[in-house]
Amino acid sequence: MNALEGVRKIQQNYDINAIYARRVFSLVDKNNLLLDAAKIISEKPKPFIKWVGGKRQLLSQFRKLNLYPPEKFNIDTGNYFEPFVGGGAVFFDLLPEKAHLSDLNGELVTTYNVIKNDVENLIKSLKKHKVTKEYFLKIREQNPENLSDVSIAARFIYLNRTCFNGMYRVNSKGKFNVPYGKHNNPLVCDETNLRKVSKALQKVQIKHQDYKAILKHVKKGDFIYFDPPYYPVSKTSTFTAYTKESFLDKEQLELRDTFLELQKRGCFVMLSNSDSGFINKIYSGYKGISINKVEAGRAINSKGSGRGKITEVLITNY
Ligand SMILES: C[S@@+](CC[C@H](N)C(=O)[O-])C[C@H]1O[C@@H](n2cnc3c(N)ncnc32)[C@H](O)[C@@H]1O
Repeated sequence: MNALEGVRKIQQNYDINAIYARRVFSLVDKNNLLLDAAKIISEKPKPFIKWVGGKRQLLSQFRKLNLYPPEKFNIDTGNYFEPFVGGGAVFFDLLPEKAHLSDLNGELVTTYNVIKNDVENLIKSLKKHKVTKEYFLKIREQNPENLSDVSIAARFIYLNRTCFNGMYRVNSKGKFNVPYGKHNNPLVCDETNLRKVSKALQKVQIKHQDYKAILKHVKKGDFIYFDPPYYPVSKTSTFTAYTKESFLDKEQLELRDTFLELQKRGCFVMLSNSDSGFINKIYSGYKGISINKVEAGRAINSKGSGRGKITEVLITNY
């Protein structure tokens, strides 16, 4: 069986993207293709934090619409960049051996790097954390600047697993302010997954930087996925406080210009955002750029009645 047939067979049986299917094919025993593939796929690492705006539930829709991954992107010659990485749903879905991940949230980036370089000490540290409201408030009060990298990462994962809805929100001084979540027995230390994530990150670069810094490195044939803080659809829905900096009209326009610059360089660019009038307007009228609507079931809204299906956009240049 040649590679093309093998990859197709794997994709017919499992709901996975073409890039990861090729990787699976390269690893399986060709005489035992589907069983071996099932085993590899079941061992795949998952995002280690819950992140508002996480794309996990949307990826299968992107694939069915033929929007992701770009058909002509070659992972052997091009690089994958995810400069608003957050929980990294797309990275964990593609699972490229090498990739460039970055985010402006410093504690998040430290956490990725500790998982990559010091996972056993992280697991030890995470196991010491307790799930009670009093303890949560004590840990939330800590100033991460006074902690070691391992303690920053353990605190970050602990707060994410025990706070309300796995949200990350900071006040104008950059201080984490999400309340305790009253979860039933949350899994604070998923050591099996953390070890898998660590292995998957070994050749991956993870940097604390503004998304524009990737412009120094991207070249023709690279694939860039932008998942910025969304433009608010209404005045009451401004959930953009992942970092103390805001991301509104001016920042969205700068990002649009970066998108156009990457298009000029011959990169494959994919961008998520809210289906708001402003976003539709600023990406309309450019040759080669399409604005696709996708359905997103989202649970972040101050009013219960606002929960449910809303649309968002997936903008592509390929
Ligand atoms: C919508 S979230 C990304 C969600 C992610 N795709 C996932 O699946 O979890 C946006 C991310 O952008 C980061 N961010 C905000 N402003 C940034 C900037 N100027 N440069 C880089 N990252 C930024 C935030 O810290 C946050 O992690």
